Amino acid sequence: MLSPIQEYLKTLHSRYASVMDGHVADYIPELSKADPRHFGICIATRDGHVYEVGDTRQSFTIQSVSKALAYGLALEDRGEEHVLARIGVEPSGEAFNAISLKEGTGAPFNPMINAGAIATCGQVLPTDEQSRIERILAYLSGFAGRQLDIDEAIYQSESDTGHRNRAIGWLLRNFEIIDEDPHETLETYFQQCSIRVTCRDLAIMGATLANQGVNPLTQKRAIAAEYVDNVLGVMATCGMYDWSGEWVYRVGLPAKSGVGGGILAVLPGQLGIGVFSPPLDSQGNSLRGIRVCMDLSHELALHML
Ligand code: DON
Repeated sequence: MLSPIQEYLKTLHSRYASVMDGHVADYIPELSKADPRHFGICIATRDGHVYEVGDTRQSFTIQSVSKALAYGLALEDRGEEHVLARIGVEPSGEAFNAISLKEGTGAPFNPMINAGAIATCGQVLPTDEQSRIERILAYLSGFAGRQLDIDEAIYQSESDTGHRNRAIGWLLRNFEIIDEDPHETLETYFQQCSIRVTCRDLAIMGATLANQGVNPLTQKRAIAAEYVDNVLGVMATCGMYDWSGEWVYRVGLPAKSGVGGGILAVLPGQLGIGVFSPPLDSQGNSLRGIRVCMDLSHELALHML
């Protein structure tokens, strides 16, 4: 017999399973191969219960969801003062790939937009490309509670077409937000975006944040407790780009989306939510992901405010 929460997730899944609005990301050619029918919903609680329905074990690339977690690593490596001096925490109100740099200092507005995420990559130690990506991969694996890997075809495609991100990288170098050749930082960023996850992984990552940084399945600490609120803070204010205000108004949970179709949302102290559905809206957020999170928030009374 299914538990009430499992029954509810099944109903929610079938409510949107046939909705086919939106478009799969195609600005990175390999991403356009995603199957728009894939659809998974998963909830993981801070005490380690996992409820899932649909394509929750299908892998896809984490993309911008990684930005929230990598920000935690940069804070751990360099401390709050160093990171805040280089990357702001204000919503930009602009698209994820906007060249949103503060006048004068050149600091990106926040770590969730590409400019801020590339700058964040540039803070992770040690600074050589190979060690950096290995650390980021190990760090994100701690949140997922299993060893993650990189989708090499997506990485190659990101690197082949990431000219706008390269331009942002050189601007960051110009303003001394990053200290080394941006080429290496960019390749690390492209690899970070190409880390393969599942919808279930996103929910467990969320549950880890909900559990003050300790993965509820492995019982291992993934992020220092002192930085969990900082990560959740930027997710709440900037995680959905130029839809962040509306997201907080309607859903009321810290969250982060990625163009692979994933959304990770967190009810602090309680649970993590993962939704996976590749078709996106014009802001680059998963369309079914947003609808599912709006319903979850209303029907389970999860809105924090
Ligand atoms: O920088 C990029 O274009 C991507 N690799 C990541 C963007 C992304 O996921 C934006 N989110 N919705």
